Amino acid sequence: MSDANRIIVFDTTLRDGEQAPGFSMDVPTKLRMAHALDALGVDVIEAGFPIASPADSEAVQEIAAGVRRPVIAALARTRRADIEEAGRALAPAERPRIHTFLATSDLHLAAKLRMSREECLEAAVEAVKLARRFTDDVEFSAEDATRSDRGFLCRLIEAVIREGCTTINLPDTVGYATPDEMREFFVEIMSRVPSSGRAVFSAHCHNDLGLAVANSLAAIQGGVRQVECAMNGIGERAGNASLEELVMALRIRQDRLPYHTGIKSEALFQTSQLLSEATGEPVQCNKAIVGRNAFAHEAGIHQDGVLKDARTYEIMRPEDVGQSVSSRLVLGRHSGRHAVHARCQALGFTLAPDEVDQVYRAVITLGEHRKAIADGDLRRIVDRVRTPPAPPSGATTAHVEAVGYGHGV
Ligand code: KIV
Ligand code: ZN
Repeated sequence: MSDANRIIVFDTTLRDGEQAPGFSMDVPTKLRMAHALDALGVDVIEAGFPIASPADSEAVQEIAAGVRRPVIAALARTRRADIEEAGRALAPAERPRIHTFLATSDLHLAAKLRMSREECLEAAVEAVKLARRFTDDVEFSAEDATRSDRGFLCRLIEAVIREGCTTINLPDTVGYATPDEMREFFVEIMSRVPSSGRAVFSAHCHNDLGLAVANSLAAIQGGVRQVECAMNGIGERAGNASLEELVMALRIRQDRLPYHTGIKSEALFQTSQLLSEATGEPVQCNKAIVGRNAFAHEAGIHQDGVLKDARTYEIMRPEDVGQSVSSRLVLGRHSGRHAVHARCQALGFTLAPDEVDQVYRAVITLGEHRKAIADGDLRRIVDRVRTPPAPPSGATTAHVEAVGYGHGV
């Protein structure tokens, strides 16, 4: 596939993700995560916002010194002190990027920054000029770009590209855009900015309406070649576009999305787990790609289908994202006979047809009281079926089954 379709994965887990409530990490943890993101194959690691705190600055320095392959980015407002601190923190980096940002929407300019459009444009140009003294790799983000006046945005983008800015990021800061709008937005902006060919355009989508991944994919269709995203979709408020969802959507739907990334998808699950352990925040069980239910089937019809041909209910293989294959058939009260039998076989039991029936009925009974039947439960059920307790005088076989495999197993 042509390099024109290569998507740069800019990971902001350690900056936008880490600044969300509940996700803060200390310096050694951030460094461990950065190594994991490097192993995963991300192109850019946004390591922090150095002016925000001494610990943020230290984390950027440690990552810059220890993680050599990816570009290491540091965030900075357009203020001199921010850019100089970012430049200092990035000094040990092999491939440093200063990522400077300023809001461009009239709402942010008037209500938050109390700045005119002209002052905004001048501050952006000056910031890029200053950042260029530290590195040739400068990214400018127009915060709240999707709610900004497009004519003004184009003028500002042209001006910062002329100062040598090489990446233009247009965030949907408040997750307000829709996919069709996002695609059309990038097509329009790129066609109206005379020097757009001299920079990589980038999308940074928030998930307030649950559209961050869809919007990022639409932005790619509109011409962007960098997407900003975070592992497990963490980030401000409802989060950023989820890295694992974006990457797998591009991989699985090549027919509609003929783009590629450098991500080693088999490392997605372990990276997701590492982040969850590092922050103490669990991954939602039904989270696409990395949730523990993402490849789990309990309904009998689905289990039967998966056992016959996994493609009936799975659009990708669990091992392709690093999830375990063995955990996917969950036994519970919705399970089918086929799955119960298959699990018994996997545990090494060869059962006669009447034993399968008895084990199956016991699983359904136990499933009334348990969310899931573990392998240990199943082993005990098989043992009991094979060595039934002597019935108390006067009891029926049905009674023995109910007592034996009900609550007590
Ligand atoms: O959401 C946003 O606009 C940001 C910028 C700082 C890139 O995080
Ligand atoms: Zn953001």
